[in-house]
Amino acid sequence: MVTLMQRMPRLFGPLSLGSAILANRIAVSPMCQYSAQDGVANDWHLQHLGSLSLSGAALVIVEQTAVEPAGRISHGCLGLYSDANEAALARVVGFCRRVGSAALGIQLAHARRKGSAKLPWEGGGPLTPNAGAWTTVAPSAIPFDDHWPAPQALDGAGLARIRDAHANAARRADRLGFDLVELLAAHGFLLHSFLSPIANRRTDAYGGSLANRMRYPLEVAAATREVWPRRKPLGMRITGCDWIDGGITTDESGIFACELHTIGFDYVCVPPAASVRRRDPPLHRAIRCRSLPRSKRPAALWCRRLA
Ligand SMILES: Cc1cc2nc3c(=O)[nH]c(=O)nc-3n(C[C@H](O)[C@H](O)[C@H](O)COP(=O)(O)O)c2cc1C
Repeated sequence: MVTLMQRMPRLFGPLSLGSAILANRIAVSPMCQYSAQDGVANDWHLQHLGSLSLSGAALVIVEQTAVEPAGRISHGCLGLYSDANEAALARVVGFCRRVGSAALGIQLAHARRKGSAKLPWEGGGPLTPNAGAWTTVAPSAIPFDDHWPAPQALDGAGLARIRDAHANAARRADRLGFDLVELLAAHGFLLHSFLSPIANRRTDAYGGSLANRMRYPLEVAAATREVWPRRKPLGMRITGCDWIDGGITTDESGIFACELHTIGFDYVCVPPAASVRRRDPPLHRAIRCRSLPRSKRPAALWCRRLA
């Protein structure tokens, strides 16, 4: 006789992630809401995350949340760099815990040269100075696209500040009781842009060879691992390949995933996207391409989109 448990798809079975156990294998991806003010969450986030936390998904990951004000994409992006940010998220987390059962994760990020942008429904282009534009930063002073201002190439002090900002935000996330932290190193944001030879043209220890391009994301990863409790899952969203000649390759992403595993990361998530504007993968290839084959990652590291 086939029992109910035997017939249940694995999707609805539990998943061990690090030392945490998720009730099923359904996770809600982080989704920017562009609805915060000064990085502060409000009633919009309360209803958005509240409803998702009672959806039956085992895990809900809060949208990309900036580790410093200049790390936001737009004036509407969430932040976790101030006491006001933390207090507002405490209200949201408390509400989700009261109404829902999902574990709660948060994605920590820095937007680099994709920042200082208008809201998507206002066109999404670069902000003008009288609309509150700020100076963006990047590995190299290469603009995001035509008609975008050039970012400032980060110096040693800037690199240290942003590394520490990731660790500080992770400390705040732990204080808030989040169950999981995910660092964003995909979609052309700061950590991805260090990995990608397209965006990273540095000639110092952070540019050139793969070992050099991985150096900064790994420093940020290690600083975050140090402050984020071992018992809570820690992951990174990475780009499998840049979909452009001369960009990061799946072999390189596999090596990077192995390095993350060595540091103590529990998973990588590989969404289909590119670092360069107008280079998103053609849809049929995105679906067919398995971004990070099983052979290119450590067995103990969970990888969404494995082949
Ligand atoms: C409205 C919206 C907001 C998104 N915001 C984020 C985000 O904050 N961080 C992120 O890594 N991806 C973000 N994404 C990408 C999604 O998390 C997801 O990866 C994408 O929709 C593709 O789905 P898939 O990864 O399941 O294939 C967003 C997508 C949408 C539609």
